[in-house]
Amino acid sequence: MEKIYREIIHLLHQAGELVKEELAQQDVVVSTKSSRSDLVTNIDKLVQNYLMSSLNVLIPNLKFLAEENGLTELSDFSGKVMVIDPIDGTNNMVLQQKDFCILLGLYEEKIGRCGFIYEVMGNHLLWGGPEIGVFYDDQPWQMQKDLSLEDGLISFNSKIFRENILKSHELSQRALGIRMTGCAGLEMMDIALGNRVAYISNLQPWDYAAGQIILEALGMKVRTISGKSLSLNGRELMIAATPKAYQEILES
Ligand code: IPD
Ligand code: CA
Ligand code: CA
Repeated sequence: MEKIYREIIHLLHQAGELVKEELAQQDVVVSTKSSRSDLVTNIDKLVQNYLMSSLNVLIPNLKFLAEENGLTELSDFSGKVMVIDPIDGTNNMVLQQKDFCILLGLYEEKIGRCGFIYEVMGNHLLWGGPEIGVFYDDQPWQMQKDLSLEDGLISFNSKIFRENILKSHELSQRALGIRMTGCAGLEMMDIALGNRVAYISNLQPWDYAAGQIILEALGMKVRTISGKSLSLNGRELMIAATPKAYQEILES
């Protein structure tokens, strides 16, 4: 599989170049989906189409669960499945031209094999899984520190924090501070990098698949807010955290 993973990394870099070229032309076409802040652009669709057509050639009989183009549900997870978020943090891409990423999660018989979080503008890649290990910018990567809530930064989906869902105000007071980047993939990358102790959100499978595979391979926790396994089926309230912070949040 390592050869295939290398090919996937090459595809991600190619997709990143496509994104940068499109942004440079300054004619991003933005439309809304479920609400005025749920955005999709021509770039999201371009990246998903590019990745799907290339991955189809690379991995025979691959199935897809992906955010755009009506691929948002998959009942049969047998064989190999790629979960794709072509641009995670579309609002950031449109409004800031930074702080967004491309997310891929490869499953085999519904078991996470390898996740990829590619931060496009800074050209940083976190990838890996339970068999191959985890790599950050091509360096082998381990869990940094198992910090508790009191010793680190916590992050939230902004609605969860604004509306004080899941005692988020109380949790934020226990932590050393709060951060909200508006990009689930980068929040999960920051947990892997040791920059956050926890992230609480309400996510779809394509938002968490890559991060879950990588964080679990590092020995970190990604579960529903009641401590169950995420289902890969629809939106779920979830926690990604260091083992210590996860336990503290569950007991709070
Ligand atoms: C969104 C971002 C955001 C999270 C939302 C997601 P998108 O993804 O990850 O941080 O709070 O729930 O939908 O729409 O930019 O791919
Ligand atoms: Ca997206
Ligand atoms: Ca997303």
